[in-house]
This record gives sequence, C-alpha cells and structure tokens, in this order.
Amino acid sequence: MCGIVGYIGKRQAAPILLEGLKRLEYRGYDSAGIAVFHAGELFLMKRKGSVRALSRAKGAEGSLGIGHTRWATHGAPSARNAHPHVYRNIVLVHNGIIENAEDLRRECLARGERFASETDSEVIAHLIAHVYRGDLLCAVRESCSRLEGAYALAVMCKEEERIVCVRQKSPLVVAEEDGEQFVASDLPALAGKAERAYVLCDGEYVSLGKALTFYDSALNPIEKAPEKGQQAQDSAAKGRGHFMLREMAEIPAAMAKTAQNFEKEYQNSGLCEVLCHAEYIDIIACGTAYHAGLCAKYAIEAAVRIPVRVSVASEYRYMDPIVKRGTLAVAISQSGETADTLAAAQLAKAKGANLLAIVNVQSSSLSRIAEHVLMTYAGQEVAVAATKSFNAQLMALYLLTEKLARAKGRTLSLPPLAKAAKEALVRSEAVRAWAERFAAARDAIFIGRGADYCTALEGSLKLKEITYLPSEGYPAGELKHGTLALIGEDTPVVAVVTEEGTARKTMNAVHEVAARSGKVFLVTMFAELCKEKEVFASLLLPKTSGLFSPAVAVIPLQKLAYHTALARGNDPDKPRNLAKSVTVE
Ligand code: F6R
Repeated sequence: MCGIVGYIGKRQAAPILLEGLKRLEYRGYDSAGIAVFHAGELFLMKRKGSVRALSRAKGAEGSLGIGHTRWATHGAPSARNAHPHVYRNIVLVHNGIIENAEDLRRECLARGERFASETDSEVIAHLIAHVYRGDLLCAVRESCSRLEGAYALAVMCKEEERIVCVRQKSPLVVAEEDGEQFVASDLPALAGKAERAYVLCDGEYVSLGKALTFYDSALNPIEKAPEKGQQAQDSAAKGRGHFMLREMAEIPAAMAKTAQNFEKEYQNSGLCEVLCHAEYIDIIACGTAYHAGLCAKYAIEAAVRIPVRVSVASEYRYMDPIVKRGTLAVAISQSGETADTLAAAQLAKAKGANLLAIVNVQSSSLSRIAEHVLMTYAGQEVAVAATKSFNAQLMALYLLTEKLARAKGRTLSLPPLAKAAKEALVRSEAVRAWAERFAAARDAIFIGRGADYCTALEGSLKLKEITYLPSEGYPAGELKHGTLALIGEDTPVVAVVTEEGTARKTMNAVHEVAARSGKVFLVTMFAELCKEKEVFASLLLPKTSGLFSPAVAVIPLQKLAYHTALARGNDPDKPRNLAKSVTVE
C-alpha cells in the first residue's frame, strides 16, 4: 500500500531513492515520484506508472530527498495525484488513508487554499504549511493531532535541512550508518544500506538530519534500540525472470526452513503451556493467509478434535466476536502489516484470547503485538500474488497442529511435505499446456471437498488476481445447488482430489460437469482417476496425506495461474489494482 523512502547524507539522494522505490514497488505501482532539495531549490518529478518512469530523475542534484510509489486510494492513478505533494514550503510523502480528509479539505478551501490533486494526502501538506512557524517537527505534530486514519509520513521543508517522519498504523523504518540516514516503509528497501535499523512504533516521531533523534507522541526525545538481527538483508529470490516463478521455485526450501526452525521458534514462543489449556482456536487472516487458516481448521479439527473458527479479519474486527475463555487466537500474515489482520488480532487479545502470530517478517507490527510468535521462513516475497509464503504458513500451521495434538494426548506425525512439494514442482510443469485453454476461457471454476476445497479456493484466488478471469472456488458437493448453472460449453473446471474418503464423491461432481460440456482438469494423487473418460486433462501429484495435501496440491494451481497470466499478456508480478502489503482498511 504505497511505499515511501527518504535519504539525507553525503551522497546524491536521487539514485538511492530510486533504488529504494524499486524495492518497494510491490507495495504499489500506480504512480511514482521523488523530490530532492539542493541549496534550497526543489527538484520534483512525478509520473504515472512504475518507478521506471522516473529514470531521468537519476541525475538530480542534492543529498536530501524523499520518494513514493503509490497504490491509489483517493484519486485516480495519475501524475497529478502522485506523491510527493508540495504545498508552499512543505513537501511530503504519505502511506495510509486519512479518513477525515474531506472535512479538512473543506477547511483549507475556506481559507482560500487551492489543491493540486484529489488525494487525501495533499491535505496534510496544507495543514503543516498552515501551522509552520520555523520548526518542522512541531508543525508535523500539531497537524497530526487533526488526522484520523492511518499514516506514515516523511516531510521536508525549504527552510530546514532535515526529514521529519511519523508513524500511525502504517509501517516505517529508519536506518543510519556513517553520517547517512535512511527512511523507508520496510527493511528490505534499505537492504545493504545501513548497519543500524530502527522500527518506529505508533505515535513516534523521528527527525533525520545532523542527528537521528526519536521522539514520543508528546515530542519528548526517546532512546530506541536498533533491531536485533534485523540488518536489512537482501533476501528476495535471486536470479532472472518473474519473481513469482522464482518464488514458486523456492517453495520446498521455504517449507524445509520453516520446519527446521520450528522447534526453536516453538520453544521461544512460550506456547507449550498455552496449548495445553487451549479449548478453542480462533484464526484470523486475509486473502491467501485466510486460506492457509482454512486448511489448518480441517487439519486441527480432524487430528486434535478441538473447535476452530476461521474468520476474514475485515469481518471479524466489526462483528463483535464471541471469544470464549481458553481461546487461542492465531493471526496469520506474510507481511505482518495487514491493517485488518492487525485490528482483528488486537480485538481478539482485548477480548481475552492468547494471541499467536504466524508471520514472515520478524520486526513486523503483528509480531510486536502478539504474545507468542512463530516465524515462517519464506524469505522476502516480492510478487504480489503470494506463493511460497502460503506453503510456509501451512508448514508452520501443520507443525503447530502436531504440537496441539501432543498437548491433548494425541499422536500425529507429518508426512515429508517439503519433499513432496519438490516433486510436485517438477510435475507441475505439465500445466503449462493447460494455460492456452484457460487464457481463452470466459471464467473458471475450482472444486474440492475438505482440505481440497481450501486448495480450490486458493487456486481460484491466484487465477483471479493475476489473469483477471472471473473464477470461483467451490465445495464440490455444493456445485449442484446453483453454481452448476455457470457451466457451459468448454468451461474449465479444476477438480482437486487428494482425500481417499471423499474422492468418489468429488468425482460425482466431475461427471456432472462433464455431462454439461464443461472441461475437467483433474489434480489428484490417485492415478486411476486420471484415466476416467470425463477427465479432459490431469496432473498426478506425489502421494501424501490428504489432510495436509494443500501444501503440495496448490503448486500446480499456482503454476496454472502464472502461465495463464503470461498467455493473457499480463505481468504476473504486478497485477492491476493490487499491492502486496495492504496497510489500509
Ligand atoms: C494473494 C495475496 C493476498 C494476501 C493478503 C494478506 O495472493 O497475496 O490475498 O494474502 O493481502 O496479506 P498478509 O499475508 O501480508 O497479511
């Protein structure tokens, strides 16, 4: 959801800002801009589209600057609405949403001020300029007291050689080394830049300039300790080509690494006692992470026999959920910054649940608010469509299921899932041949039962988000209650069948689809099913337990989405309208 960067030091700012923005592009790529000060003169460039459109800004003079890559909330993606926003002496970039922007804008208009954009962010520049009396930090604080919503800001002004930043519900990190200071929305944007990195907490301010000074919400200077072991490493998938393809190739390693580190994570988490007393599990997440939660529900209820509720975080936070005593809330998130997941997790905690975070970013907001943390080790995920992080989440959730089972006096042992995933990756190359047919289709349907239904949901989401094809993930047995009406001549239907007990039942749905001229693409562990005449094409998965199969069966569906996106001429790494880290409501 928008990425912001800033630099002050002895080098030229522009190349550093552009490199940082490139690394943040997964947070939004509607428009981009940079502003650099040189001897009191402002260089400003804003362009519609990706950071690449700013390449001519590289030569801009000046060692103090800020930059932004945008995911539009208020106002269309355009150069006009791109950040940085400039009003009088104030220049700023913003990540977040200002909920009372309209009221504030009316106030500014009544003073006779004119706006250059339709954004909620520009209003902040107006507020700051209005109250500026020679101290940028004080003006930013005074203005922030008027704002409702979420914001991370980096602000400069003509009169002062510094950058003032503040964080409220949108992430922000700063780093320093050798007289150079950096600010960014996340640590990977600062990869290899500085030794000492600090994560701002809500309500904190920082001034970058002669010194790096942190302040609390009342502007009292505070000491902050650098993040331990959180040097901004460059851990994005190496190599050439699309990130999504490279990240899928890393699935087995992400799962294996998560498993290798799990025991240590578990011991450090303090969960042992909590699991013994857990009577209910409340899983909260969004999107792909929500699907991982659904997979866990099937596994935990079957193997441990305790009730599990899985909620979409944006619903949970407003539904006044009933949280019973003995509830362990599990918030799942790759980024650890998803606004809805954070709010829902906080609510569960406030209602008395123990809060466990399953998260891929160590210094994230979610890991800070949780009482217990289990890390996934997927490494940085850059492609907007989540792949390896989903498989790593499943690995952590299945290992948690194993621990829960033990805590409840049951035994459970996981099959070698990372090995099966490796084999599935190789076999999944075959779905490239399916892509042409999906690319030409009007829509698609994914079906399955039990854990296979969860796989179907995730396969459908992947297809939607990067191919823009309407698609539904559906319980196989529910098809005949309405959705079957969508099946027409050649409608592609992906059927996932890995559970022995219900395989025949799902095949009934397959027959019903074929009888209506739909084309069935079967993803299964059972070789004999591939031979059935109703099956148009099939992919045989390596054998593993049906209960834990989503970690393996999803792989051909991720690949199918990737190849179909390519066949439709889309960039799979940067689907339209989306961004990786959804830090707004
Ligand atoms: C889909 C996707 C999203 C995220 C969702 C939650 O491919 O990536 O649906 O899963 O926005 O994000 P995190 O896991 O960062 O909380």
